[in-house]
Amino acid sequence: LRMVVLISGNGSNLQALIDATQPNHPLASVNAEIVLVVSNKPGAFGLTRATNANIATLTYPPTKFRKTIKGAAWRAAYDAEVGDLVAAAKPDIVVLAGWMHILTPAFLDRLPGKVINLHPALPGEFDGAHAIERAFQAFQEGKITRTGIMVHHVIPEVDRGEVIVKREVPIYKEDTLEKLEERIHAAEHQLIVEGAVTFLKKLQQQRA
Ligand code: GRF
Repeated sequence: LRMVVLISGNGSNLQALIDATQPNHPLASVNAEIVLVVSNKPGAFGLTRATNANIATLTYPPTKFRKTIKGAAWRAAYDAEVGDLVAAAKPDIVVLAGWMHILTPAFLDRLPGKVINLHPALPGEFDGAHAIERAFQAFQEGKITRTGIMVHHVIPEVDRGEVIVKREVPIYKEDTLEKLEERIHAAEHQLIVEGAVTFLKKLQQQRA
């Protein structure tokens, strides 16, 4: 099964997916291979990770679209282009792993039912950017004692869509933001693989 991964930065979650495609690891067990890594940010370290793993990469910044198309219309043009490029790789699954660009229907409609996203918060709690910082803030204000992460199907509404797998992450009173981020990223590296495997197993069953 063919997987495309979209990244914007460090790519630690991409690395978890790459490691899981090694023989006798979870993604290898569902016959999945990463065929392409796309970054909207030139120089993202995740691109190096992909190259080191002999995976094809594509760096596609929205710069020229933002410069040549006035207003928010650049999004539809950019998303359509990226959607075509990703669709050309004939993926069975598209994983957003540390991808920091909201995708509109112009992208999603080209890959119906194939896009999943990792978000470092529980369903409906801290949708959107800076989720970890916002959870830590809520903890300091005594509003929550735990946060969490999830892998979900991507629909146009940001960080919504049917949840595939989720996991609570505890916060401790002596935590710093860095300690919490460390705990969340460690949990993400496991959950993103679990989410992709769950999705692909279901796909295999549907095709059986
Ligand atoms: C992760 O917390 C991810 O959930 C968020 O971006 C962070 C960095 O991910 N979207 P990565 O190290 O680039 O995979």
